[in-house]
Amino acid sequence: MKAVIFDLDGVITDTAEYHFQAWGSLAAALDIPFDREFNEQLKGISRTESLDKILARGNLSDAYSDEGRRELATQKNTEYQRLISALTPADVLPGIKALLAELQDARIGIALASASKNAAFILERLELTRYFDSVVDVTAIRHGKPDPEIFLTGAANLGVQPADCIGIEDAQAGIQAIKGAGMFAVGVGTPSQMQGADIVVATTAELSLRMLEDYFFRD
Ligand code: BG6
Ligand code: MG
Repeated sequence: MKAVIFDLDGVITDTAEYHFQAWGSLAAALDIPFDREFNEQLKGISRTESLDKILARGNLSDAYSDEGRRELATQKNTEYQRLISALTPADVLPGIKALLAELQDARIGIALASASKNAAFILERLELTRYFDSVVDVTAIRHGKPDPEIFLTGAANLGVQPADCIGIEDAQAGIQAIKGAGMFAVGVGTPSQMQGADIVVATTAELSLRMLEDYFFRD
């Protein structure tokens, strides 16, 4: 085990909830039904892909030009950025800061593989930037999750083999990406939401270097 590659939203901090709220406001304004079950499909995928799925759900796929879609995506992001502007280090999910410190002390590589263009800002707000040896530049990624590209890029940036990496995700698309990359997948959530994960924890409070090593070497 040479590196741990983290998803951000829903793993390091509960911004998955803010994405849900911001998309929910937009969907309500467009009169499109929106609930938590549908929202699971949006986790891990890009802003534009999320918007496409929401519009399709409202049978509005043909109702907006590219320009119209850009405006809707901007509207959602403006609301999302309003929500994340108040983030503080207290919003780091339980167990995460201790895990990052343990990994750093053990000289295990740490990378971020987030689909979010707001990721660097969020790490800054949480005062976690210094723990990351690599933050994958999502604008340079051609294929989003569930494609493994973002996790493979994280491993390459750290100079480690995928088989020596653990990926941690809260999205079904993310688990698929980790497994497609040939890594050990840790899911945060319920087993039904995390199909294909090697292990599933209910909350990040269960994560530690010791437990990750136990499972990784048992596999
Ligand atoms: C992912 C989230 O981390 O980032 C998705 O799980 C989100 O819900 C995606 O759509 C893109 O985020 P952003 O901040 O670039 O709109
Ligand atoms: Mg996530």
